[in-house]
Amino acid sequence: MDEVGPDYSKSGCYEWLLPFADLQPVFEKLELERGLESSVVVVGCGTSDLSKDLHLALGFHQVLSIDNDEAVIRHMKARHRDLKGLTFALGDLTVYSEVVVDGNADLVVDKSTLDCLLCSDAAAGLICCVYRMLRAGGFYVVISFHDTDFLVSLLSMAFDLIGLVDLQRRVGPPVRALTLRKKEIEGLDEVSPRRAVQQLREQLRAFEAGRLEAAPLLSSERKQALEAAWPHDETDAKTFPIPLSVDEAYGLLFTDAEKREYAKADFQSDLSDFRTTSEADAVAATLQLVEKLETLLRKESQTAEKGARGSGVNIPVGTKPVQTLLQTLVREWAAEGLQERKACFDKLLGALDSHLTKAGRVLVPACSLGRLAFEVSCRGHSVEACESRLLQWFGMELLRQNGQAEVLRPQPFALNTCNRLKFSDNHRVTAMPDVTIEEGRLPRQHFGEFITLYDRSDAKESFDCLLTSYALDLCPNVFRFVRTAAHVVRPGGVRFRRSPVRRVARMARAGLLVKLLGDVLGNALTGHYEKGKPTSEARTAERKKNCLECITKLLEAVVGPGDLLSSDVRAEFAAEAYAAWGSCKACIAAKQAKLPQKGTDFAKYNENEIEHDFTTSGPFRAFAHAIVNRQQKLDEGFFQAFVERLKQFVGDPKLGDDDFQAMAIELNTIAALCAGVRAFCAATGYEAPPLPAKPNPCKPGRFLRVSDYSTGPLQTNRVIAWVPTLPASQLRKDVPERFGIDASMWAFAGANPHGPTSKASAAPLTCWEFLKIMDVMYVPFQDAPRFLKVPGKDRTLNRGQLEVAAADYTSGKACNF
Ligand SMILES: C[S@@+](CC[C@H](N)C(=O)[O-])C[C@H]1O[C@@H](n2cnc3c(N)ncnc32)[C@H](O)[C@@H]1O
Repeated sequence: MDEVGPDYSKSGCYEWLLPFADLQPVFEKLELERGLESSVVVVGCGTSDLSKDLHLALGFHQVLSIDNDEAVIRHMKARHRDLKGLTFALGDLTVYSEVVVDGNADLVVDKSTLDCLLCSDAAAGLICCVYRMLRAGGFYVVISFHDTDFLVSLLSMAFDLIGLVDLQRRVGPPVRALTLRKKEIEGLDEVSPRRAVQQLREQLRAFEAGRLEAAPLLSSERKQALEAAWPHDETDAKTFPIPLSVDEAYGLLFTDAEKREYAKADFQSDLSDFRTTSEADAVAATLQLVEKLETLLRKESQTAEKGARGSGVNIPVGTKPVQTLLQTLVREWAAEGLQERKACFDKLLGALDSHLTKAGRVLVPACSLGRLAFEVSCRGHSVEACESRLLQWFGMELLRQNGQAEVLRPQPFALNTCNRLKFSDNHRVTAMPDVTIEEGRLPRQHFGEFITLYDRSDAKESFDCLLTSYALDLCPNVFRFVRTAAHVVRPGGVRFRRSPVRRVARMARAGLLVKLLGDVLGNALTGHYEKGKPTSEARTAERKKNCLECITKLLEAVVGPGDLLSSDVRAEFAAEAYAAWGSCKACIAAKQAKLPQKGTDFAKYNENEIEHDFTTSGPFRAFAHAIVNRQQKLDEGFFQAFVERLKQFVGDPKLGDDDFQAMAIELNTIAALCAGVRAFCAATGYEAPPLPAKPNPCKPGRFLRVSDYSTGPLQTNRVIAWVPTLPASQLRKDVPERFGIDASMWAFAGANPHGPTSKASAAPLTCWEFLKIMDVMYVPFQDAPRFLKVPGKDRTLNRGQLEVAAADYTSGKACNF
């Protein structure tokens, strides 16, 4: 469930300093490969369109945007959900962060974020972070309103300046665009991140002090003028008089340059917001709430259950957890959170009502502030809940003690001022709880992790139902969570779960694996339990059987005839890929040694320098090894070498370049599926089944040429699995009919005729492949048409995820040993 926050959907995008159109030439000059070659990071993305423009206008296919504002990241993800190349991640750029793997970025773009952090003495942290995330020689583009000398002196410790442009704006003084290149600083990498930050911070402070001395923000003349025109009684700061008209105040407060930045209309609007809000009361109410919480924390931490056996209590630090708590309060206990609550809880409660017709025992793990547990308790069930986050636990306690409707009146969004476009976004007062919580209605919450609390013999089969919302996402171990859930529910009991598994906040590959496993489990759980099938050993065994049957079917499809290639070729290729996954010693050694170095011809290296452990004598066997074991090294050159090899091997003059590319993709998909199955089996502990024998007849299946489908060329995106795209405008009109495909399935491209034919960017052949995956691996067969047609919110796995699933699986596992 998303958190409630300022509603950016109405305000859309806010662009600091300059729009992309004015900056485009700066980026065009960079000596960087576009497409998937380069990894771009936008630091402090805000709600700007910059990330989208770098992706769409300049063709960078991997743009990661980071911001520390949750509401912003949520909004940006929703706004760009159709753009696969854009990723948004929450992260604090002033501390060493794992959001970007060290040395992974080719280009870091910073528009006004350094400016923002220079105001708060945190710029050194950002500079260090950028330095660490850039590869050797990587670029850092800074757009800033600070003057050039200052910026250059500040950044020159870690970067060489290679380009500088002054950019005029319609309003306000010009801004600077600096292009910098990461310096190789001897020894810096060995310095601890902390020490490096310290070094930079010291340097920064010296600059900042010098700059302020030379050009103070408030000169003594201006200070005197303000004081003369605006006298006030120092002894009574509360009755600060405003004897001036708004016009006069505006005239006096701002210099001409400042007025160009901050229009009178904005000043007036801010002022009226300020006046109409009962400011003092609201601030006091928020403080009161936090104080109450603090008292509780202090007083009751002694009496908090010691139930969290073995799990140390994490005392939250900083304002962030408090801010999250305040926003969760709104979501769960204020009228304004109703819609979000309904979207999430109604399904769960509906399922509960239909399955638990008599009063029963219900467990709600990771209960947050207890609203779900409360709703269940109001239905007459006996409810137990648990929560392992300290503030959340006490937050629920606070509600227990302040249960009268609307007795709490905090400003839940007051703690983070950044990216709030209007004053009222920050100072909105919210009354809560929205209902009176009758005594005894809010169930008791145990303190601790669900897994730790309930994975014990006396909890066995002690509940009729387990109801969770968002718990699987938060738990440290999905497998143990599922096992524990099965353990606590009595035979014939039911489990309901609802949560979009959104774990890929980081680019760490382990994270990808967790996400995919979450998806698979998610499908298994929602697929089975929403239908109310009981949890039992028999059911678990049946699921395992289904899974292995699915895998067998998938492998049969893999070795069978394809769209272009016969099963002679496919089966041999699959045999090589299936055996090589994670077992070719030479591949692994090269991977561990990070060989070959960037810039080397990987295809040649893979063929000539690596002594693979082959199991077949097929012509593409070295390619199969590289695909299953070395995804991170696959590049355009490798793909072209693969295409050339196919040309030589097939040698059919009637076929065009597109057709050979399509064949390369077909084989690549096979390798990805093989590795996907191996990774899935390794992760679940199932024994990988042997590859089935190739079928007879083994001729290629449905079409022979790409032109059977398309009036134009196939476009190939170079991602791990080389996803091919076919713009909707190029699709031959008769194709859906000819192949008996529902025409609506091709219509996902929306209004853009140049977009791919579907969200899954499926060219016909991969579309068929992925149909197969959907049939056999993740999606219950009867749901497949729904998945194809409805890109709705109720799905656990979307088409895009399906498309990358096989490839992600391989990188998730194969790249981690
Ligand atoms: C001045 S805005 C610039 C936004 C955007 N780049 C633009 O050009 O419109 C600065 C952005 O940096 C983000 N930010 C500030 N401190 C940050 C931090 N420590 N870590 C990550 N992002 C931060 C803010 O949330 C905000 O979105």
